[in-house]
Amino acid sequence: MIKKIFNYHFLINNMVNQIKILDLYCGMGGLSLGFAAAFKNCEITGFDINKWAVETYNLNLNKFNCRALIQDVLQWTPESNIYYNIIIGGSPCQPFSSATATAKQGEKHPYFPTLRRFYELTAEIKPEIFLMENVCGLITKKHQPYLIQELQRVNKHYTIKYNILNAADFGVPQKRKRLIIIGIRKDLSKDFNFPVPTHYSNSSWITIKDALKDLIDFSLLNVKEKYEINKKENHILIMNINGLIKEKKISRYLQLHPPLDLDKPSRTLLTKSDYFLIPFLDYNGTTIYRKLTVREFLLSIPVFRGLTLLVSTMPSTKFAPRIFQSPFSGDLLC
Ligand SMILES: C[S@@+](CC[C@H](N)C(=O)[O-])C[C@H]1O[C@@H](n2cnc3c(N)ncnc32)[C@H](O)[C@@H]1O
Repeated sequence: MIKKIFNYHFLINNMVNQIKILDLYCGMGGLSLGFAAAFKNCEITGFDINKWAVETYNLNLNKFNCRALIQDVLQWTPESNIYYNIIIGGSPCQPFSSATATAKQGEKHPYFPTLRRFYELTAEIKPEIFLMENVCGLITKKHQPYLIQELQRVNKHYTIKYNILNAADFGVPQKRKRLIIIGIRKDLSKDFNFPVPTHYSNSSWITIKDALKDLIDFSLLNVKEKYEINKKENHILIMNINGLIKEKKISRYLQLHPPLDLDKPSRTLLTKSDYFLIPFLDYNGTTIYRKLTVREFLLSIPVFRGLTLLVSTMPSTKFAPRIFQSPFSGDLLC
């Protein structure tokens, strides 16, 4: 997608030397990976304060000429001779996300200044291109004024366009709408367009089943067993990490966030993952569900490190130590 956005040839013509990219708030490196795939001749430096994210980034991306450093972006002042062709970043979304309770802290949110710092650094370094990824909440009536204020730091020198893209429309097995803001420096006199979707709604979206077919034996969903499984009205059966089946009352939350449909892309995965249930076994019409495992959650991250990271992404924070031996997590944790 990134290749399509920027029209590879236009960039290659303009950037004959190696393209230097700075990824602010790089996390585990999702954005960097996209850029590394799009520009074969790039060198990416990522900054993040989370040591586990930085370690995971380096484990997976060093081989693509990407390198992350532990660096607080708010404290970083670039030296006068420093230059990057492209600055990218997904500043923390918590102050603007509808999914976080802390969003109501507004300007008092500790992560609030990270948005501003992205644009301050862009204005200072003046890369050819910048790209920011964030939650759609940033352009709601409440938060839009902050964004406009920050964009004013750069709009004199950049042609800026934004769009909301849904990852499912580009072949990701997850409906995840994100705001993408792109600026191209005006002196380059180049235009760009956002890509058109490659996958269209139900007809060609990649489903959870497509994505997990190598990890899960879906034939278990059709076993014809003699067992009688009884469950109370308004309850569902959930198998925990030890293989024990528990009955759980269908709460209001579970009504709003029902188990995932394997024949569709997942709804947006959250870091609090307790309610991402999938059907696992079916006894003559009575379905037993289980939580997604760490491996299933982090499908596109080959290796990852750090309990903090796991805790924020794993199926059940309570089972953090145990998941390492879980039959669900496989051998991919290191
Ligand atoms: C939304 S995540 C970034 C995800 C990343 N773009 C990706 O594609 O994987 C935001 C990241 O910002 C980091 N962060 C928060 N405050 C920071 C700061 N002051 N300096 C550097 N990183 C920070 C967090 O640790 C987190 O990893």
